[in-house]
This record gives sequence, structure tokens and C-alpha cells, in this order.
Amino acid sequence: MASFFAFVTIISLAFTIAKAQSNVTRGSSLNPTGPNTSWLSPSGLYAFGFYPQTHGYAVGIFIAGISETTVVWTARDALPLSDNATLRFTSEGRLTVEQTQGQQINLFDTGGASFASMQDSGNFVLYDSTGRTILWQSFDNPTETLLAGQRLLPGQNLFSSVSETDQSIGVFQLIMQTDGNLVLYPSMIFQGSAYWYTETFKNGPNVTLNLDSSGFLYLLQNSSFYIKNLTERGYPTKDAIYRLKLDVDGILRLYHHDLSNKSKNGTVKWESSTNKCAGKGFCGVNGYCVVMNDAATCQCITGFEFVDVKRQTLGCWRTYTVESCKIPDAETAIQMTNLNNVRLDEATYAISKAPTQKECSSACLNDCNCEAALFTEQQCRLQRLPLRYMEVSESVPSAVLIKVYTSSVRNGSNPTNQSIQVKKMRQKRIMVIGVSLISFAVLILLISGVIMYRAQVWAYKKINDNLGVQLLEGIRPQAFSYAALEKITDGFKEELGRGTFGIVYKGFIESSMRHVAVKKLKEELAQEGEREFQTEMQVIGRTHHRNLTRLLGYCCEGSERLLVFEYMTQGSLADVLFGLKESKPKPCWMERIRMAVDIAHGILYLHEECENPIIHCDIKPQNILMDEHGGAKISDFGMAKLLGHDQTRTTTLLRGTRGYIAPEWHKRQPVTVKADVYSFGIVLFNILCCRRNVDNSLPDSEAILEDWVHDCYEADEVLKLVDYDEDVEKKRLEEMVKIGLWCVQEEPSLRPSMKMVMLMLEGTVKVPEPPNPTSFISVV
Ligand SMILES: *[C@@H]1O[C@H](CO)[C@@H](O)[C@H](O)[C@H]1NC(C)=O
Ligand SMILES: *[C@@H]1O[C@H](CO)[C@@H](O)[C@H](O)[C@H]1NC(C)=O
Ligand SMILES: *[C@@H]1O[C@H](CO)[C@@H](O)[C@H](O)[C@H]1NC(C)=O
Ligand SMILES: *[C@@H]1O[C@H](CO)[C@@H](O)[C@H](O)[C@H]1NC(C)=O
Ligand SMILES: *[C@@H]1O[C@H](CO)[C@@H](O)[C@H](O)[C@H]1NC(C)=O
Ligand SMILES: *[C@@H]1O[C@H](CO)[C@@H](O)[C@H](O)[C@H]1NC(C)=O
Ligand SMILES: *[C@@H]1O[C@H](CO)[C@@H](O)[C@H](O)[C@H]1NC(C)=O
Ligand SMILES: *[C@@H]1O[C@H](CO)[C@@H](O)[C@H](O)[C@H]1NC(C)=O
Ligand SMILES: *[C@@H]1O[C@H](CO)[C@@H](O)[C@H](O)[C@H]1NC(C)=O
Ligand SMILES: *[C@@H]1O[C@H](CO)[C@@H](O)[C@H](O)[C@H]1NC(C)=O
Repeated sequence: MASFFAFVTIISLAFTIAKAQSNVTRGSSLNPTGPNTSWLSPSGLYAFGFYPQTHGYAVGIFIAGISETTVVWTARDALPLSDNATLRFTSEGRLTVEQTQGQQINLFDTGGASFASMQDSGNFVLYDSTGRTILWQSFDNPTETLLAGQRLLPGQNLFSSVSETDQSIGVFQLIMQTDGNLVLYPSMIFQGSAYWYTETFKNGPNVTLNLDSSGFLYLLQNSSFYIKNLTERGYPTKDAIYRLKLDVDGILRLYHHDLSNKSKNGTVKWESSTNKCAGKGFCGVNGYCVVMNDAATCQCITGFEFVDVKRQTLGCWRTYTVESCKIPDAETAIQMTNLNNVRLDEATYAISKAPTQKECSSACLNDCNCEAALFTEQQCRLQRLPLRYMEVSESVPSAVLIKVYTSSVRNGSNPTNQSIQVKKMRQKRIMVIGVSLISFAVLILLISGVIMYRAQVWAYKKINDNLGVQLLEGIRPQAFSYAALEKITDGFKEELGRGTFGIVYKGFIESSMRHVAVKKLKEELAQEGEREFQTEMQVIGRTHHRNLTRLLGYCCEGSERLLVFEYMTQGSLADVLFGLKESKPKPCWMERIRMAVDIAHGILYLHEECENPIIHCDIKPQNILMDEHGGAKISDFGMAKLLGHDQTRTTTLLRGTRGYIAPEWHKRQPVTVKADVYSFGIVLFNILCCRRNVDNSLPDSEAILEDWVHDCYEADEVLKLVDYDEDVEKKRLEEMVKIGLWCVQEEPSLRPSMKMVMLMLEGTVKVPEPPNPTSFISVV
């Protein structure tokens, strides 16, 4: 006990200014730079208040008597805080953090707490006036640590932090599942399977994780029934504290602090894995974990570098890439390098019969879709990027072969000596094969196109005799005669809109009492118009989805090219959002969210549910039409790209509309479905804020929507983005903004897939903290 008093003395010496106090009364406040930065527990062991982070400050609970800042709880909603922040226990009994501009973040917002107390157990408690009823306590809301006496209840989780000095939510979580299993899961954005669990999954919904003051860690079914003891019996010692923490590297560790020792640094008594790289997905995509200096460290595979050197867990991207591996390029060499003893999350699109590693390399080199190959005993699994959950371990017999582009072969930037150098001749041969394959495919397409066209002309000839056109719903698009369309549109009288390629007119088909929209492609754009006509026919003719406009018919007579669509009564999303239809009020928050979900559904269908993936290439509010029920449908497929069966990217000239086009278009890099994800991100911002991308009538700082959204998000002022009188929940809006910011990442591989966007919009998947979209300078 003497030593404990000695310890308390040390603390009192170190904290002469902030005196230990037992009860925090209403009206008390703290500042990160003021004389009082925290409230101490009676013995001075724990403190509640401000502590420094990489950027600014955080509010939370830390062990005050230890030289290294040991945080046990953080107010993650209030991160990061500036010098000017104030933590207040208000006169109404609320606990708030106030930033300079008078915005408040409520840690406990119901109010009515009489006093607060930082207890020696490490629990911060708010009491009502009787002092017996607990209104709020930090023990009920764990972040990444459990202290002695605290329990993790069914359904509760711990989230790891980004780093020791940034307590924002990191990439791992521990869940006390309601099936009784205690499980560690990897990163939220790249959902994956568990990497550690207690195998107690048949014990029903009442199992809790408990830690007692002697470091005994166990799962309880009820007050008397032990399910599993994680530490055998605990480590009864005097003057010690124990804490269980989900560390940054994804390992769950039980720390012991000997308070009688001068060095009170924590020692690990128990850990979920002794392998520091066991945290699945710690290094993000295209990266892998190695233990260096006794710590988990990230490395990128050959030919890749960190997306952000300061946040290596974000993963890696290529240092050098080519527009297309099929286009001859004297400056570029393609090689295969290998990384042995690797396991990875398999997402193979083809298995090649290659008995040797060398043949596996060739198989990948000869395939433009292949970016890497997993070679196991006589099986060669071709992979696209990104490579996920790479794990390097002596015991794994497989190797990963990675395609590396280098700007010059002759300089011998030879990453490993097993790498296979590709001779120029060979490369040319591959290209010749590639090009002839493409030509062949194009030829086949042309022939089938001609056959289809013939059939259509024939069908149209039959219809031509009868001007009273009948619409056959639910069947393939029909052929119309020009005369019929002229009649339907009353001589192209009422114009609905104009696009790059043509004008849209309103029409009415009497026999089926139905309004239609007729798009007349400009004749002077004969060649391009023809291409657009064909694309639209091909793409939309084969799609059928609630959130895509239907192509009902077409006309191709002489040089005339017309398309007939279902008519959407409410105009385009642009009309609805930007108030072009004066009479109508702007849609409310819930309606807007529904629109976003509708559009996401439509794009998801194009990307993943069609026979062949389709990149729309021109997602913007003008191309999204609204039906009378407020449903949104994607239209205008004139720009769309149809991808081959196992093609993932394409190179074309710049298409799409400025402001909505992904940065890779400008850089002439290959374009993937992620280009649509980018455009969707911008449209999502349009929807959230009901305004255009660029509005020069606003102050400079707000003129460019994307930048303004990001600034508001960074400054934790998202509510500025919506009308002040709108009934919007800040949390929900923030989630939406985060999804948008993920979508508009400069680096396409960082953008989530449409499926992931869907899951995040629905709230099925928690949205992680997005990096700054433009902070990464492009490496190409
Ligand atoms: C804290 O306040 C409560 C209620 O006023 C009182 O009962 C308790 O004794 C106080 N504790 C200390 C250590 O002052
Ligand atoms: C700091 O705390 C002490 C003791 O609790 C109190 O007397 C003092 O008024 C506080 N100072 C400020 C500036 O709040
Ligand atoms: C305790 O931790 C501090 C800070 O991390 C470190 O500087 C110090 O060397 C450690 N002491 C011992 C004995 O490990
Ligand atoms: C803090 O307050 C000072 C003056 O009140 C102001 O100049 C400064 O910009 C503020 N800092 C932040 C980060 O808000
Ligand atoms: C779980 O707890 C609830 C409420 O205490 C109880 O009704 C139920 O029987 C318990 N289930 C099991 C499997 O122990
Ligand atoms: C605790 O659970 C066990 C096993 O389910 C059961 O046999 C026992 O009666 C329970 N005890 C109490 C107090 O609920
Ligand atoms: C777990 O520990 C408790 C308390 O020490 C003991 O009663 C129980 O038998 C232990 N269970 C197992 C499976 O070791
Ligand atoms: C105090 O801690 C240090 C380092 O953790 C250890 O080497 C030493 O044996 C401890 N001393 C006592 C008396 O436990
Ligand atoms: C080879 O690399 C050196 C510098 O490392 C550079 O100066 C030289 O131009 C390169 N040669 C070729 C052919 O690219
Ligand atoms: C790799 O290269 C180094 C030197 O460049 C050489 O010593 C080593 O034997 C080579 N290893 C193999 C497997 O070829």
C-alpha cells in the first residue's frame, strides 16, 4: 500500500495544477490550453478531459499517472478538436464540447444530470440529483478498451483506432455477437471474414465479455455460468491495473500496469495472437504486413507505392501504369515479379492450367485483364486488382505473381532476379494477337448487327403499312416509321429538352393512350449520331430495370435516326433539384435519399447485374428522369460503353460532361466502372445540397460544390450544406457526405464498388472515415 501512496504522490507532483477532485459540478468547464485540462479521479489515477492528438485534441479518459498517454475512452464524435474547444458540464446538466463558432457536440444531450464523477475505476459517470441513478457512464459506451469491472454486452463492439495518436475509428472491430461468439473482423469497407473468434457460437444471446481487477478475462452466460476463460485465472497482484485493448494492428491485448514499479509501462499478459500481422487487411489493398522492429509494418507489392505514406493502412497503388496493355508503347515494359509464401483473398476470374510458375507468369502476361496471379501447386489463378488480405507466411506454399509496368527495360530496374523479362518481340506478338482478336470480335458484332438491322427493317416494313401504331409492352424495342413518329409528335411540336446529339420531343400514341419521349438525333452529326444510335440501341435494348428508362422503339429511315422512350412526367433530376420548375417545392430529405438509392440501384444493375457490364459514362442530373411517383430512372445511354465478358476497363476519347467526369478521363487512363462511381458521388452531392456543381453567385469558398462539401465535412459543419430549416439528422447527413467523398476519390481503386455504395446507403455497412479526395497527387 505504501508504494501506492508513493505513486499518488508522484501523480500529485506531476499534476499540481489540476487538483484531484471528486465531484464535477454544473457549470464546470475545461480547455485544452487553459489551466484545467482535465478532471482527475480521487486518487489521481484516471482523468477525464483533453489530450493531444496528431491533429489537435481529443476529449476522453486516460491514465494520468503514466508517462505515455494511455487512452481508455474517447469521444469519437468530437474529433479532432482545436485549441479553442471547450468541454462543459452545463448548468442544465448536459455534457457538451463546443468549438469556436458556437457549434456544440453533445456527449450527453438529454440534460438533467446533477453532477459528474471521474471514478478510480476509470468510469466517468453522470448522476441525477439523488446521486443514486446513473444517467450516463463511459463503461456503457466502450470505444477500443475494456477496463476491470467493465463488460462488453451482447451486440456491443470495440473499434480499433487509426493510430496511437489518432483515436478515430480504424479498420478492425471486436463484436460480442448475439450468438455467443466473440469475434474479430477486418476493415469495414472491404468486408471480410473473421480472423479470430472464441468458438462459443452456440451459447445464445446473453453472453458477455468480462474483465476483473486481477486480469481475469472470461465469457459469462449468466451470473454463475462460465462459458470460456480466456486468461486462466487472472494474475492477482497488488497495485495493478489491467486493460483489454483492441490495438491498432487488430490484435486484442490484455495490458498489465504495475503501479508499484517506477516504470508503469504496460506489459502484455495475454493476446489474441502472437503474430503481429494477424490483423486481416491491416495494410489495405495491394499491400502486405511484415513484422519489423517487433511491430506490424506495411509494405507494397513490387511496382506499387503507398496511397498515403502517413497512413499506410490505406493501401497501395501502381507507381506506373499504361493506358492499355494492348497498345504498343516503346517506353513501357511489362514484367512479372513474384512474392513467395503468400495467401490472399481469392477473387479469381479464371483458372489457367499452368504447371509451372513460369507458365503461370506467361498466362498472366498474355491476358490484359490479369494484374496478378496466385500460383499454388499446379494451379494458376488469374486476378484483377485490388489484391486483398494478402498474408505472407513461411507455411504458405503459394506465390503471387505481379504484373509490373516499368518505363524502361534496359535500365534493368529488375525487382527480383526471378522476374521474367519480356522481350519486345514477344510483347509485339501478344499485341498482334490481341488486336486481331479484337478485330475479329468487332467483325462478328458488325455481322450480327447487320443481320439484326435487316430483321428490324423487315419488321418495320410490315408496321409501315399501318400508321395506327400499337405498342407491344414488355417486348423488344419496336421499329417505327418516320411518318408515324411525325404523327405521334404532332410534327415535332413540343420540345422537351436538348442534348449534344439531338432534341427530345413529346409525343402521344393514341392507340395505347400513352405519352412518349422521342429523341431525334441531329443529322449533321451523321457519324457520331449513328454511333450513339447504335450504342443506345445495344445498351438499353438489352437492359430492363425499374431504375432505367425503357426504350420503346426506334426509327432508322434514310438518314433519320430516332429513339422512342417512355415519357417521364416530372422531367429530369436537374429540374427537380435546381428548382427549374418554379411551381414545385424542392423534394424533402427522405425523398432525396430515395432518389439517391434509386440511382445507385440503376448503376449497380448496369455494372454488376447485366449480362455484360455497362459503363454509363454520363451520369448527371440532366440524364436522370423522374416519374410521377418520385422514382428516379437513368436515361441517355448514348455515351455508354459495353464491356466484353471479362473486360474490366476500356480506353476511349473523353466523353461525359465536365464536372461529372472522373479524373482518369482527363489523364487518358483506362476507364472502369469506377468512373460512374465518381459521377454518382457528384450527383449525390447535388442531391444532398440541392444545388449545381458550380455556382458563381455564391462566395468563392462555396462556388465549387465538391470542395465546399469537403470543407464543411472537415470543419464538422455538414449542416451548412442543407437549408437551415430542413429537418435533417446530422449523423445521417454526415454518413451521406462520407459516402460521396469515398466515391469522388481521385484514385479509382479507392472508390467503393456500386454494391458497397448500396450497402452504405442502406446503412448495412458503416461508412469509414474517407481520406481527402484530392490529397493524393497522381503518380502517373
Ligand atoms: C459527490 O456528490 C454527492 C451528491 O452531492 C455526495 O453524496 C458525495 O458524497 C460527493 N462525493 C464526494 C467524494 O464529494
Ligand atoms: C480549475 O480547477 C480549480 C479546482 O477545481 C478551480 O478552483 C479553478 O477555478 C479552476 N479554474 C478554472 C479556470 O476553471
Ligand atoms: C516506458 O514508455 C515510455 C514511453 O513510451 C518510454 O520512453 C520508456 O522507455 C518506457 N520505459 C520502459 C522501462 O520500458
Ligand atoms: C481560435 O480563436 C481565435 C481567437 O478567438 C481565432 O483567431 C482562431 O482562428 C481560432 N482557431 C480556430 C482553429 O478556430
Ligand atoms: C437471456 O436473457 C433473457 C432475459 O434475461 C432470458 O429471458 C433468456 O431466457 C436468456 N436466454 C438464455 C439462452 O439464457
Ligand atoms: C445459468 O445458465 C446455466 C446454463 O444455461 C443454467 O444451468 C443456470 O441455471 C443459469 N443460472 C442462472 C442463475 O440463471
Ligand atoms: C473458469 O473460471 C471459473 C472461475 O475461476 C471456474 O469456476 C471455471 O471452472 C473455469 N472454467 C473453465 C472452463 O476453466
Ligand atoms: C519494474 O519494471 C521493469 C520493466 O518493466 C522490470 O524490469 C522490473 O523488474 C520491475 N521491477 C519490479 C520490482 O517489479
Ligand atoms: C536509366 O536511368 C538513368 C538514371 O537512373 C537515366 O539517367 C537514364 O536516362 C535511363 N536510361 C534509359 C534508357 O531510360
Ligand atoms: C539473385 O541475385 C543475386 C545477386 O544479384 C544472386 O547472388 C542470387 O544468387 C540470385 N538468386 C537467384 C535465385 O538467382
